[in-house]
Amino acid sequence: MEIWNSGNAYIYETIAKVQSANVATLALFTTSILLGLALIAKKSNEKKNQKLPPHIPSSIPYLGHAISFGQTPIEFLIAAYQRYGPVFSFTMVGKTFTYLIGSDAAKLFFDSKNEALNAEEVYGKLTTPVFGKGVAYDVPNPVFLEQKKMLKTGLNIARFRQHIPIIEAETVDYFKRWGEQGQRDLFEGLSELIILTASRCLHGKEIRSILNEKIAQLYWDLDGGFTAEAWLLPTWIPLPSFRKRDIAHKKVKEIFYDVIKKRRESDVRGDDMLQTLLDSKYKNGRYLNDDEIAGMLIGLLLAGQHTSSTTSSWLGFFLAKHKDVQDACYEEQLKQFGEELRPVNYDDLKDCQLLDRVLKETLRLRPPIMTMMRMCKTEQNIMGYTIPAGHQVCVSPTTNHRLPDTWENFDQYDPDRFLDKTGATSEEKFSYIPFGAGRHRCIGESFAYIQIKTIWATLLRLYEFELVDGHFPEVNVRTMLHTPLHPVIKYKRRQPVH
Ligand code: HEM
Repeated sequence: MEIWNSGNAYIYETIAKVQSANVATLALFTTSILLGLALIAKKSNEKKNQKLPPHIPSSIPYLGHAISFGQTPIEFLIAAYQRYGPVFSFTMVGKTFTYLIGSDAAKLFFDSKNEALNAEEVYGKLTTPVFGKGVAYDVPNPVFLEQKKMLKTGLNIARFRQHIPIIEAETVDYFKRWGEQGQRDLFEGLSELIILTASRCLHGKEIRSILNEKIAQLYWDLDGGFTAEAWLLPTWIPLPSFRKRDIAHKKVKEIFYDVIKKRRESDVRGDDMLQTLLDSKYKNGRYLNDDEIAGMLIGLLLAGQHTSSTTSSWLGFFLAKHKDVQDACYEEQLKQFGEELRPVNYDDLKDCQLLDRVLKETLRLRPPIMTMMRMCKTEQNIMGYTIPAGHQVCVSPTTNHRLPDTWENFDQYDPDRFLDKTGATSEEKFSYIPFGAGRHRCIGESFAYIQIKTIWATLLRLYEFELVDGHFPEVNVRTMLHTPLHPVIKYKRRQPVH
């Protein structure tokens, strides 16, 4: 329509000029009209030939499918995939979401440039008030990529070797409060433990040593910034959670500035992430400033906090449900670490391949990040469809991990499906994506594996776990990450069998 309106205006304007023109100018005008019309027709044909993704109709204006998607997102997406195919759109709260389901469609998402499918525009509003300015989605993607590279340097095998005994000691110490047997909230326990282990391993000794309940509360307040309201509402609305988040941000930054200053002034170099960041330079030779370091430390902690605590909780519930797998994991501990169960260490932990598969399968059925999102900045073509600029383009790991045409017995928890390389029925590049892929891929995968495997190696030695009255938790789809609902587990001290 718009093309034709502007085309008509062009024609009328030209006719007015033609009335007062000589023959040469007339010829020139005629040619230009014909060329103009040809161009307009070509553009219009191109548009006409473009096929938008099928749009799932809704009778509810503005809200669209927000309620049905909000209640059962994965079921909604799988049903839509079966009805409309791998690319489809729908409206929620006035925004159009286009999902790319399955490995082939997801290719567009992971292979695109950030200028085409943009992450900052969808995530920045959530993360910038929490991490602060100058880092992550507040800077152009090439700068964030440099920051990710610096962080990755700090997450290396030599450091992991040091992290493992620390994580084991924190786990033993934390679980003393659980006593011999009982029923407890596993998710709460693991969330508290992981803040301690992540703070010690990712921030360093100084920050861990001052981590008390007051500071932990500041982290929770900061974390309270990751809500749907923060994503949907303007930042100036004085919501209590926004206020708490902003106060916590200021206070945490001040604590970190102090630690950074002391470390800079100290003669002793640390061997930790803080030191890595103090030593890191951008390509242009500039060192990170204190604000950037503090922001990156907050980002590291929060990026790993919920993802790891959610995953390790689900892992516990799967082990409690599948007692045979739990027993086999304990046997693996005895085999790998000897009957006396010597302390967890990097090399032996790496060889705990069953525990590895247990974690991998947990991440297949319960990837904590159920949807990744980008803002479509320029028209994108995939599988015969054109996605217009302005759509929110999404890929859902949870959905890709459950497609019946990709995964045999897709809804069964079967760690041994990963005995062969991919575990998927066919070798599809993006069928298994708990850590994303492409330029935004997670840098914390290896650390997360080390952390979760060490915690569970330790817990398997301490306790045997059971579901409470056979209850396997439902998925809490109201939280941004898919956490377990009513996550209470039954446990009793393990009696050594040998
Ligand atoms: C089980 C644990 C974890 C899971 C499942 C997970 C998952 C993910 C996913 C799916 C992404 C891609 C997001 C997107 O493309 O939109 C991502 C990115 C990222 N993750 Fe993780 N993550 C985990 C742990 C961690 C940890 C422990 C850290 C830090 C130590 C971390 C730091 C990051 C960073 C910095 C990014 C980059 C974001 C970007 O480039 O846009 N993650 N993670």
